[in-house]
Amino acid sequence: MEEKREQWGSRLGFVMAAIGSAIGLGNIWRFSYMTYSNGGGAFLIPYFVALFTAGIPIMILEFSFGHKMRGTAPAAFAKVKKKFEIFGWLPALASFGLLTYYVVILSWALSYVFYSFGLKWGEDTNAFFFGNYLQLSDGIWNIGGINTAVFISFILIWAINYFVTIRGIAEGIEKACKVFMPVLFILSVIIVIRGITLPGAIEGINWYLKPDFSKIWNPKVWIDAYGQIFFTLSVAFAVMIAYSSYLPKDSDLSNNGFITALANCGYSFFMGFGTFGILGYMAHTQNVPFEEVVSQSIGLAFVTIPKAINMLPGANTLFGVIFFVALVFAGLSSSISLIEAFASGIIEKYNMPRKKAINLVCGIAFIIGLIFVTKAGLYFLDIADHFLANYIITAAGIIECIVLGYIYGAHKLREHANAVSEVMLGSWWDFCIKVVTPVVLGISYILNIKADFTQSYGGYPWSANFIVGWGAVIATIIVGIMLSSSKWKKDIFVDVNKEVQG
Ligand code: ALA
Repeated sequence: MEEKREQWGSRLGFVMAAIGSAIGLGNIWRFSYMTYSNGGGAFLIPYFVALFTAGIPIMILEFSFGHKMRGTAPAAFAKVKKKFEIFGWLPALASFGLLTYYVVILSWALSYVFYSFGLKWGEDTNAFFFGNYLQLSDGIWNIGGINTAVFISFILIWAINYFVTIRGIAEGIEKACKVFMPVLFILSVIIVIRGITLPGAIEGINWYLKPDFSKIWNPKVWIDAYGQIFFTLSVAFAVMIAYSSYLPKDSDLSNNGFITALANCGYSFFMGFGTFGILGYMAHTQNVPFEEVVSQSIGLAFVTIPKAINMLPGANTLFGVIFFVALVFAGLSSSISLIEAFASGIIEKYNMPRKKAINLVCGIAFIIGLIFVTKAGLYFLDIADHFLANYIITAAGIIECIVLGYIYGAHKLREHANAVSEVMLGSWWDFCIKVVTPVVLGISYILNIKADFTQSYGGYPWSANFIVGWGAVIATIIVGIMLSSSKWKKDIFVDVNKEVQG
């Protein structure tokens, strides 16, 4: 089995792919929105605390687990105990669910690359986005058919994802990330330089960096910060376990974990200067208080940024193209990792040729994704995202910490990482895995359940939250149980004693 396992071509290739998975839509629009809605600089403190107490430790945990077990998430958990296999399928399925609408947001970004030419979004960018482009219906149950403009981009984005993942680890994902990442970096530097040199930028940047300590005692800020760290690092997504299972035996783990997590969060922090600089400029040009320039999450990238691009003193089209191409490139390296997270589990479990597994995974995700391409797509997307992120990904994170921390033993993975890595992990690492992360995630889980049963999420009808939201959660669990109770077509347990104990 091992001879046939795919491998990264180089350490750099692996790190690029891991960073590529981490850096995505989450770093550009989600990070800016989270920071904005949680009081600017006040959010940065919990964000960095979450990075060091949960993000980095879990990243290293997943790298060590995938590497030691030489298996994707379902196989790796099954090697700990056969009945734990489901704990690997849950995050893999959450990635699959996320994938179905993540490509839709990427499709919007791709359309906006074209709309940048001649600033097609016009003066009223809000009306353009929700009305002309999304043709948003008046309620979730008014589905209204497929939106052609979104659908065209959707096909293009899917085609790229498909052709990259079908080529495999070294030839597909690694090569693509080695192009996407450097290009993204150059585009981002241009965005930040433009952002910070605009008149009024300093006002936005001050707001971005100045902590408002009155907000720091609000549990929501902390829950959002930990949630953002999990989303942005792609941890508890089954991605990093799969990626590290393709590493050669003597690869560094801890250092790679630090590099990946710090590069990702450093990137978000850096891009924040660009975004907040531009927002500061908007407030300055419109002569309104900074707090009034942005309204909501998706609006930040597709309504506020186009509006800001309209106001730039020159090279407006060029800047629009740069911004939206950056968004597309950032997102593509994440969406291919979401495909891989699930497809790699299928390949391993059913001993299926990669081509067949990719056809299956992409085909089903494409079909499910069509619901998000309808005129009520945004509503479905919002609900699915809320429920999958808060109930499946958070649960997967808690379970991972408990199973690996207590049942398998965090110390075994720490020793494994220390045996191959430059940076030595101490017992602080066990503490983060066993105590800090499960406690924080557990609290946020309870608070979310409480909120969702007292108030219908997003003001949608209860029927929508139950059918779409809880429906997605229950479907994920049922499919997870079905996958984990079917028979392994490949004997992954031959080396199990050596891998699990050694
Ligand atoms: N980590 C990916 C992102 O931030 C999913 O978009």
